[in-house]
Amino acid sequence: MERTFIAIKPDGVQRGLIAEIISRFERKGFKLVAIKIVVPSKGFAQKHYHDLKERPFFNGLCDFLSSGPVVAMVWEGEGVIKYGRKLIGATDPQKSEPGTIRGDLAIVVGRNIIHGSDGPETAKDEIKLWFKPEELVSYSSNAEKWIYGVN
Ligand code: GTP
Ligand code: MG
Repeated sequence: MERTFIAIKPDGVQRGLIAEIISRFERKGFKLVAIKIVVPSKGFAQKHYHDLKERPFFNGLCDFLSSGPVVAMVWEGEGVIKYGRKLIGATDPQKSEPGTIRGDLAIVVGRNIIHGSDGPETAKDEIKLWFKPEELVSYSSNAEKWIYGVN
């Protein structure tokens, strides 16, 4: 089953939005298969955002991600990579639709509270960067047959 990497950034943690964000993924029907709270080093943040290293905001972004606790998670479900991004909303909260996490809970692009992998390759790489294989838990939940309609 498809998996994606989701992180609640330091602003989301400090603002007390952990449960709110987790509940949106959980209520949709996605399954949490890994979770931890960590303070990433700046070097680790640079690795995570390596694709953006030429952008003018890269340094500030990495300082910010490493400025406090981050809740790192792996969520599983059909279409979770793409739909997870839909739940999150557009990068700039001014452009995120109401009803999305960023649309409802954030205002500026540099403090947009959550990260989500943007495709299958980045999901794979980010899960590997943030988690050891043994930290991922495979299990079936009783709700799955009601969520997917199969036995
Ligand atoms: P992530 O899920 O965090 O990767 O966001 P994204 O995929 O929606 O956007 P992208 O990967 O392009 O940018 C990564 C992060 O850099 C964003 O979430 C923002 O926090 C930050 N960012 C992107 N564009 C800007 C910008 O123009 N200015 C500033 N200050 N930050 C930006
Ligand atoms: Mg991104």
